[in-house]
Amino acid sequence: MTDDLNRELERAVEQARSALSSVSTLDELEALETRVLGRKGELTGMLRRIGTLPPEQRGPFGQAANREKSALAEAVEARREELRNASLAGVRDFDPTTPGIRPARGHQHPVLAIRREIEEIFLSMGFLVLDGPEVETEHYNFEALNIPGHHPARDMQDTFWLETAPDVSFVMRTHTSPMQVRAMERFGVPIRAVVPGRVYRNETCDATHEATFHQVEGLVVDRGISVAHLKGVMGAFLGRLFGREVTVRLRPHYFPFVEPGFELDFQCVHCEGAGCSVCKRSGWIEMLGCGMVHPRVLEAGGADPEEFTGFAFGVGIDRLAMMRHVIEDIRHFHAGDLRFFEQF
Ligand code: PHE
Repeated sequence: MTDDLNRELERAVEQARSALSSVSTLDELEALETRVLGRKGELTGMLRRIGTLPPEQRGPFGQAANREKSALAEAVEARREELRNASLAGVRDFDPTTPGIRPARGHQHPVLAIRREIEEIFLSMGFLVLDGPEVETEHYNFEALNIPGHHPARDMQDTFWLETAPDVSFVMRTHTSPMQVRAMERFGVPIRAVVPGRVYRNETCDATHEATFHQVEGLVVDRGISVAHLKGVMGAFLGRLFGREVTVRLRPHYFPFVEPGFELDFQCVHCEGAGCSVCKRSGWIEMLGCGMVHPRVLEAGGADPEEFTGFAFGVGIDRLAMMRHVIEDIRHFHAGDLRFFEQF
């Protein structure tokens, strides 16, 4: 009986020692420790079986087993120390002043970033932010905006026409203005809304023209709205966007869906009107189209032009992003060259 148990003890100790010399991590060491010395470990188990021995053999076996157990525990401790030192060796060689490896991280496209800023500004002024369809009907893109079929104003914007259903013609919207009428139909008047989105023009691309670009439409309709409101809101908007007071001027301009219509310029924020390359030496930057909503457009949206007046504007977002970052060619935005995007 003792002999069996003694042999078992010997074998277990031998195995444990050889396992100990081959463990290479602290985790492995801990597993081994539990397996051999733990509460349910092999050696502990043998010590529990001591009661099965004849009484006179219990003492000697118990002593032997306990000796082996504490010797093993010491060896485990020693090995633990070795492994700790080995893992610290790497830490000692670590130089915290070495520059780290920066993980690649995406960010917003410069056009989207400025679009979000514009949305925030108008939200804070109590405007709705709406979304509209890029595939638009001829009705909303033209007709409802006082641009009938034969009207020369249709040529102001070169249009991508889509396949025509029997009774509707579809276009890729040439501007966000169709949302003026859709918004009035959907929400009624009075209304304050901005509509950011992508627009399409069938034009030859160059440094300042792209076949697809982005606009934000703005619409305010209420009782007693005047050009003064238009100019005030535009000044506040641009001031917030550029983080400083900006000087704006309105120049008369023709758009069929506003009367009177204007182009809004603002004094160049780079040279403060002195003339520089950004403003092409004129001191002014042509910024957006705007005007008082045409009575026919109010009517198309279901508002009574006798009771309501309103202003609308359409601003090119790509152009704003180009000005802010002094980007010389609009085509960079869609070229997909990371060397360009990584600058923002
Ligand atoms: N839709 C016009 C354009 O794309 C801009 C505009 C919007 C002008 C609203 C007046 C009022 O050029």
